Amino acid sequence: MTTPKLFTPTRIGDLDVPNRLVMAPLTRNRALRDGDVPHALNAEYYAQRATAGLLISEGTQISPEGKGYAWTPGIHSPEQVVGWRLVTDAVHKAGGRIAAQLWHVGRISHTVLQPGRAAPVGPSAIAAEHSRVYDGEGFVPTSAPRALDTAELPRIVGDYVQAARNAKEAGFDAVELHAANGYLLHQFLADGTNQRTDAYGGSAANRARLLLEVAEAVAGVWTPGRVGVRLSPFSNFGDIADSDPMATFGRAIEGLSDLGLGYLHMVEGQTGGTRELPPGADIQALRRLFRGSYIANNGYDRDLAIDAVESGRADLVAFGKLFIANPDLVERLRLDARLNTPDQTTFYGGTERGYTDYPTLEKAAA
Ligand SMILES: Cc1cc2nc3c(=O)[nH]c(=O)nc-3n(C[C@H](O)[C@H](O)[C@H](O)COP(=O)(O)O)c2cc1C
Repeated sequence: MTTPKLFTPTRIGDLDVPNRLVMAPLTRNRALRDGDVPHALNAEYYAQRATAGLLISEGTQISPEGKGYAWTPGIHSPEQVVGWRLVTDAVHKAGGRIAAQLWHVGRISHTVLQPGRAAPVGPSAIAAEHSRVYDGEGFVPTSAPRALDTAELPRIVGDYVQAARNAKEAGFDAVELHAANGYLLHQFLADGTNQRTDAYGGSAANRARLLLEVAEAVAGVWTPGRVGVRLSPFSNFGDIADSDPMATFGRAIEGLSDLGLGYLHMVEGQTGGTRELPPGADIQALRRLFRGSYIANNGYDRDLAIDAVESGRADLVAFGKLFIANPDLVERLRLDARLNTPDQTTFYGGTERGYTDYPTLEKAAA
C-alpha cells in the first residue's frame, strides 16, 4: 500500500516539515499565574506532540493589553521569552518545529484582565455582547471596548514587531498571526465590528490595512517564508460578522499573498463547530488567491484529512482536539489506531491532568 500524502514531507514557506499534520493553536490556560510565563509543564506538553510536521503554539499575547483570558501566556516580557525558550528547546530536542501564534484579543477581554483596569480596545466601541471570558474565577461578559485612535495604530503594529522579535529570541521556527476567531485583527477585517471612518475602516482594502501592515512588519523581522496567518472567514466565534466575507477575505488574502507569506491557515466553517458554509462561501476560491502553502482546519478526521491532501484541497491539515488527547496523533493516524477521547473539562486551566497525561499507544499497551 502506498503511503498517503498526508504522511509525507513538504515545505511550508522556507521550513521543511516531515509530514503534513499540524497541531492547531490551543489555549490551555496553564502558564504560571505570576506573569503569564510558560514553564516546564508546558515544555513537556509541546515536546510530547513534537512528531507533528509543525506545532503551532497556543495564542500568546503580544502585549498586556492583548490579553483576554486568565493564565494565557504572553511573549512581551523577558521572563516570558525565557519561559518560551524552555518550550522551543524541548520541542527541538524531540525533533519538532514550532510556530508562535501572536495574539491580541482586542475587545474580547475584561477590565480586570487589562493593565490599570482600562477598557479593552477595538476598532470601534462595539461590545461583544454574547462573548464570555475567563477572569480567573469564572466566565464573565466582556467589557465594553473603546475605539483605538488612528494615532495609536503604529503602537499596535510595534507591539506585534516586538513580539515577533521576542519569538525569534525564544527560539521559535516561525510565527503565525492570529487574525481569526473574532480577535483584534479579525475585528478590523469584519464590517460588523469595524465602523471606522479613517483609512482603517470602510472599504475591504481599508479594513485589511492593519492586518497587512502587521504582516509586512513582522515579515521584516523574520522572512516572509516564516510567517503564516490564520483566518476564519465564515465563523461567528467571538460575535463577529461580515456582510460579504468573500470580498473582505478575498482582499485580505490577495494582500497577504503579495507579501510572499509562507502559509495561510483557515478554519473552515464555524470554529469547533459545523464545517457547513453559508451560501456563496467558497474556501477553495479564497485559497487559490494565496500562493504559499494552505493549512486546512476544523473537524478533520483521518479520512477527511487524507482525502483533502490527496485531492490537493489542502497542503497540510491542522488538528485541534485530537492533538489535545493524542500526543502521538501522527503515529496513531498513520497506523489507523484507536484514538483517546478529549476530556473537555480539562481544556482550559488546571494541572497535568488532561494535559500531559494522555497515554501514547505504547503506554496504553504496557
Ligand atoms: C481548548 C481549545 C483552545 C483553542 N485555542 C485556540 C487558540 O489559542 N488560537 C486559535 O486560533 N484557535 C484556538 N482554538 C481553535 C482550534 O485551533 C481549532 O480551530 C478548533 O478546535 C477546530 O479544530 P478541531 O476540530 O481539529 O478541534 C481552540 C480550540 C480549543 C478546543
